[in-house]
Amino acid sequence: MTWDIRMRNTMFRRLPVERATGQLYGGRHRLRVVYRTRDLIVLGLGVMIGSGIFKISGAQAATTAGPAVILSFLLAGAVCLLAALAYAELSSIIPVAGSAYSFSYVAFGEVWAWVVGWSLILELLLAASVVARAWALYAAQVLADFHVPVPAPLARFMGNQTGFDILALGILLLLVLLLATGSRLSLRTLWTMVAAKLVVIALVIVTGLMFFDTANLRPFVPPARPAPPASGHTVLDALLGSVTGGSPQVFGVWGVLAATPAIAFAYIGFDLIATASEETDDAPRKVPRGMLYSLLIAIVVYAGVALAMVGMVSYRRLDAARPTLGTAFGMVGAGSMGKIIDIGAVLALTSVVLVVLISLTRVVYSMSRDGLLPEPVSHMSRYKVPSRATLVAGGAAVLMSQVLDVFTLEHMVVIGTLFAFLFVAAAVPALRRSRPDLHRPFRVPLAPLTCTLTIAAVGWLMLNLKLQTWGYFMIWMAGGLVVYLLYGRRRSQMRRLLDLPPPRGPRLDAPPPPGVPMPRPAPAGAPRPGAPPPRMARPRPPHAAPVPDPFDVPPLHGGPRPPDPGGRHRR
Ligand code: ALA
Repeated sequence: MTWDIRMRNTMFRRLPVERATGQLYGGRHRLRVVYRTRDLIVLGLGVMIGSGIFKISGAQAATTAGPAVILSFLLAGAVCLLAALAYAELSSIIPVAGSAYSFSYVAFGEVWAWVVGWSLILELLLAASVVARAWALYAAQVLADFHVPVPAPLARFMGNQTGFDILALGILLLLVLLLATGSRLSLRTLWTMVAAKLVVIALVIVTGLMFFDTANLRPFVPPARPAPPASGHTVLDALLGSVTGGSPQVFGVWGVLAATPAIAFAYIGFDLIATASEETDDAPRKVPRGMLYSLLIAIVVYAGVALAMVGMVSYRRLDAARPTLGTAFGMVGAGSMGKIIDIGAVLALTSVVLVVLISLTRVVYSMSRDGLLPEPVSHMSRYKVPSRATLVAGGAAVLMSQVLDVFTLEHMVVIGTLFAFLFVAAAVPALRRSRPDLHRPFRVPLAPLTCTLTIAAVGWLMLNLKLQTWGYFMIWMAGGLVVYLLYGRRRSQMRRLLDLPPPRGPRLDAPPPPGVPMPRPAPAGAPRPGAPPPRMARPRPPHAAPVPDPFDVPPLHGGPRPPDPGGRHRR
C-alpha cells in the first residue's frame, strides 16, 4: 500500500510504513539512541534467561517429558527461531518501538494492531509481575541462606507466593524509577547483571556435568501414561478427546511436544528486542542481528542446562512440587550450588523485570503516540524517555503483582506472546505482497513457506495450552476490544489524518504535473520513487532542508491542532 489519503477511514485503516518510521516527517523517533548490536544481545539475554530456566527444565522433565525435555527445549527454540526470522525482517523495514503492534498496524490495519498491542500489554504486564514475585521468593531465600536478620513484622511480608510482598513491591518500584529517569544507567546495570548470570549458568552447567550419569537418561523418552487429573486439559486434549474419545497422556512422544509451550516461557524476550528499535543506531541491520544472535545463544545455553539437569538426577526422583535446579544440586550433595543459584536467580530476574518494563513502556508509548491510548501518556520527559508511559505501565505492574495470584496466570504470558507471533509471521508475506518496493536489509529465507510453517508451529503450541488459559485470554481480549471501540477508534491519529481535507500542492505519490513525462517504471530491484533509502533511516540530519509535511498531524498535547471541519474531534 502506498501512502494514499484516499484510504477508507474504517477501523481497518493502515499506518503507512513511511509514517510509522517517520521517514517522511522526521521527528517520530524521539527516543535517545543508546543501543549497539552487542547491547541488543545483552538486552535479549537479559530478558530471556530468567525464572524459566531455573525451574522449567526440572518441572517439565518430572511431569511431562522425562530426559527428552532436552528435545522439547530444542523444539521450542526452533519455533522461536522461526518467529524471530519474521520479527527480524519486519524490524528491518519498520524499526519502531511498537514492535508487533506497529507491524500489524502497517500490514493489517488498526483494529488488528490494537488486538496485538493489547495482547503484548498482557504479556508484558503479567511477565513483569510474575518475575517480580519469583524474584521476591529468591531474594527471601538469599536472606535466609546467609542468615541475614530480618525483623519479624517485615519477614511476614517477604517471599510470599500471594498477597502483599514487600520485596516484589520494592524491586518493581526501584526499577520503574530507574527507567523513568533515563536508560543509560539501566543499560550499564544490565551489562553487569547479564555477565553475572552467565557466570552462574556456566557454573550450573559445568557442575551439573560433573555429576552426569548416563543411566539417568534412560529411558530417554519414557513410555506414555495417563495424565494426572489435576493437571487440567489443554485445547488439544479437548479436541482429540472429542474426536477419538481418548484421555490426555504425559510422557511419550506427545509429552515431548506437550512440554514445549511451557518451555516457550523461557525463550520469551527475544521478541522484545524489536521494541528497542528506535533507540538503536542503524536499527534495520542491528536489530535483526541482535535478536537472532541472542536467541541462538539462549538455545545453546538452555540445552546445556537441560542436559546438566536430567543427567544429574533421574527425572523419576525429581520432586514435582519443587523441581528447581537448586533442589537437584541438593540431591547430589552439591547443596552449596543452591546458594549460588539463588544469588544468580536474583540477578537474572532483576534484568528480566528491567527489560520487560522497558518493552512494556515502549509498547504503551507507541500506542498512545498513535492515539489509541491517551496521548499525554506518550509525553517525553527531559530525560528523553517516556517517563509517563513508564510510570503508568510500571504502576499497573506493581498493582497486578500485589493483587493477583500471578503464578497461576503464568501461561497467559505465553499465550499473549504466541498470539503476537502469529500476526508477525503473517505480516511478512502480507507486506511482501502489498509493499514489494520496500528495502529489506533482512529477508526471511523461503518466506511464504517459512512463514506458513511458523504459523502452524506457533498455532500448535497455542493448542497445547490449557482451556483455562484460553478462557482468561478471551476475556482479556474481549475487554480490549471494548476499550478500542469506546476510545481508540475515535481518538486514533490515523482517523484524524484521514479525515483531513486533501492537501494542496503535489502529493508524494501524485502523478507529475502536465507536460512532465511520467517516470519510467523502475528496473526490477531498484527502489521506487518515494521508497525508503537503502539504509533506512534515522531521521534526516539537522542541517537538511525541512521536508514539507502535507499530512502531518500535530499531537494532541501541545502544538496547533489540525483543522477539524466537522468538529468531530472536540475533546
Ligand atoms: N524468559 C523469561 C524468564 O524465563 C521471561 O523469566
